[in-house]
Amino acid sequence: MAHFINGDFFSETEAKISIDDLSILRGFGIFDYFRTYNRKPFLLNDYLKRFQNSASIVGLSIPLNSTELSSVIDQLISQSPNDECGIRMILTGGNSFDAFTPEKPNLIIRTEKFQLPLEKDYSEGVIVISYEYQRDLPEAKLLNYSSAIIHNSRNLDKKASEILYHFRGKITEASRSNFFVIQGERLITPEKHILKGITRQTVLTMAQKDFAIEKENFPMHLLSDVDEVFITSTTKGIMPVIKIDDQIIGNGKVGKATRHLMELYKNFTDKTHL
Ligand SMILES: Cc1ncc(COP(=O)(O)O)c(C=O)c1O
Repeated sequence: MAHFINGDFFSETEAKISIDDLSILRGFGIFDYFRTYNRKPFLLNDYLKRFQNSASIVGLSIPLNSTELSSVIDQLISQSPNDECGIRMILTGGNSFDAFTPEKPNLIIRTEKFQLPLEKDYSEGVIVISYEYQRDLPEAKLLNYSSAIIHNSRNLDKKASEILYHFRGKITEASRSNFFVIQGERLITPEKHILKGITRQTVLTMAQKDFAIEKENFPMHLLSDVDEVFITSTTKGIMPVIKIDDQIIGNGKVGKATRHLMELYKNFTDKTHL
């Protein structure tokens, strides 16, 4: 797969950055990730805006403007051997003289092979496990996912698809997705201390004619009362959740309202860029 680094294109084996980069020495940097549908970048402007927002939260500046980024992305997609691909944009803290002070950032953009969830996860729903944790600077997409990676590998035997973060009794988000609850006509999603997912925003826009939308960080202890739960992300789309820890959600099956939203989302992605 082709890599763009600071203005030039490299093959996978040629692509290199310095070991003095703060992303290696301190895990300092930001990224964003989106995908193609029909070989075109999906909701590109939304992802570029979030990338820009993450950069300003951590005080880094992206060396290319949106038009230049978009042109690099088009070139990378045209070189991708796969029908559809993921695109990762990374902005690092730069090569630091004292292993602490940020320098001129390194910008890396590359296409990646896609790992889609199993069809069975959508038809049967998935299990998630909870963990009390609050991400650092949650509105920024920081490079550091240590907590998610550690908890995921510790819980592989529980067959959980995601780690659900809660803090002081309230659910915020999952380690790589946003969280939604359906209770009757109400669609509830956390709003504070989260990464504002692009898929979350798409779902909220689609759902407003059928649901009363409430944006609040949902209490963990009320999970026993909810009808349906799902999580959303760029790669998962809308993924139904049937169990959180030992708590079965609703009747333990993928609910009607989630299925309806999954269909709306599929129609939206099918139609985009045709
Ligand atoms: C912490 C976190 N929350 C939410 C999301 C979902 O965001 P999106 O729908 O833009 O993929 C992600 C995606 O990676 C994430 O890392």
